Amino acid sequence: MDKYMQLFRGTAFSSKSSKEIEILKEHLFCVNPDGMIEKVVAPADADYQLLLDAYEGKDNFHQLAEGQYILPGFVDLHVHAPQWAQSGTALDIPLYDWLNTYTFPLESKFSDLDFAQEVYDDLVGTLLANGTTTALYFATVHKEASLLLAQICADKGQRGLVGKVVMDDPEQNPETYRDADTPTALADTEEFILAVKELSKTTKQGVFPVVTPRFIPSCTDEALQGLGELAKKYDAYVQSHCSESDWAHGYVRNRFQKNDAFALHHFGLLRDKSVMAHCNFLSDDDADLFAETGTAIAHCPISNAYFANSVIPIAHFHAKGVEIGLGTDISGGFSPSLFDNVRQAVMSSRMLEDGVNPALPANNRGVPGSRMTVDEAFYLATAGGGESLSLPIGRIQERYAWDVQIIDTKLPSAKLPIFNEDEDLHDIFQKIMYLTRPENIREVWVQGEKVHSR
Ligand code: GUN
Ligand code: FE
Repeated sequence: MDKYMQLFRGTAFSSKSSKEIEILKEHLFCVNPDGMIEKVVAPADADYQLLLDAYEGKDNFHQLAEGQYILPGFVDLHVHAPQWAQSGTALDIPLYDWLNTYTFPLESKFSDLDFAQEVYDDLVGTLLANGTTTALYFATVHKEASLLLAQICADKGQRGLVGKVVMDDPEQNPETYRDADTPTALADTEEFILAVKELSKTTKQGVFPVVTPRFIPSCTDEALQGLGELAKKYDAYVQSHCSESDWAHGYVRNRFQKNDAFALHHFGLLRDKSVMAHCNFLSDDDADLFAETGTAIAHCPISNAYFANSVIPIAHFHAKGVEIGLGTDISGGFSPSLFDNVRQAVMSSRMLEDGVNPALPANNRGVPGSRMTVDEAFYLATAGGGESLSLPIGRIQERYAWDVQIIDTKLPSAKLPIFNEDEDLHDIFQKIMYLTRPENIREVWVQGEKVHSR
């Protein structure tokens, strides 16, 4: 009897810290029947050869081919699943108009379960094919369709965290797309939480319910209060939008004379398992409150370029102790790929840096120290996301889930420009981060199960 369910041999990249990656060259990765990494063995370790002798040639031994590398699966901290149907459209108008003319009418169509099935099936498959092994989803106000999304994640083997969206304020939301009333919104949320908890028991990787007030403008005080209580009662995840655009930020200041962070906290919605999207206009006091409560930021760099015209000072918030991960914000961000968002996170941070070009006068608008390296952006897409969700994911390390993507740099149709046999592995890592396309992602594993291959 083999001790481990699977043994993998190859070179992996993982975050050592938020700033540094670790290169595990030609290591062995022992995965137990629960899909957890039980042991990582370096070539110099005593049992390396013993394990190789025991497993080589067997079905549960996986030798990576030359030019293939292992990365942790990505953790997407902010996806609007229904909006996949409009990805890449209508990004030239402001958030408020985009919500009312495109997004709410689209989301209202998810009362139709056939339509929901078609879109959600395609999206979950697409995210897996892009290396996303865990995703934190907003569904729609519809309880059944939201449950269907959780079921599709369960069936396809993705670790999905799913929220039935709450939009109960009749003054703020269109008649055609909102909860029937506040008690119904809360009752539906509670039923949804219980149903997803049951569903999770049938999966290996877990699916999780998420308490989801869309954003403060869409919810009444009673709903926000009730959702805070449900989050506490079930120790559930919470997600919302926080201080995203000038308009949304201004609305909350008008209504509560507070920033979003303190208003959400008042209703019990900032908890260790809370993830707030965007957070472009977080003050230092807001960031301290996030750090104190364990609330994480879902940084959505592509979306922020469109709807917020803003770059969030990630390095500054990290230094304050706030947990941060990366989100696509489909469809505020057009791309389903966290590779694309890693690239944009780096590029946006460079635009925020003040006075980096000595030929130009300091413009006094930037934030010194904002530059993010690709290693740091990779951390956000992997380990940072795992820490934000308090789950053992996002690292290739003992006692973490075997959630990985296997990248092929030598694929004839999508070859990465590696011409030197002995190229430095950190240079190869950077090429992978900048140049990988979905074609290069040969296999994706979640919790020790292969969920995608091409
Ligand atoms: N604020 C409220 N709803 C949304 C949404 O669907 N997308 C984005 N980007 N911001 C929002
Ligand atoms: Fe969003």
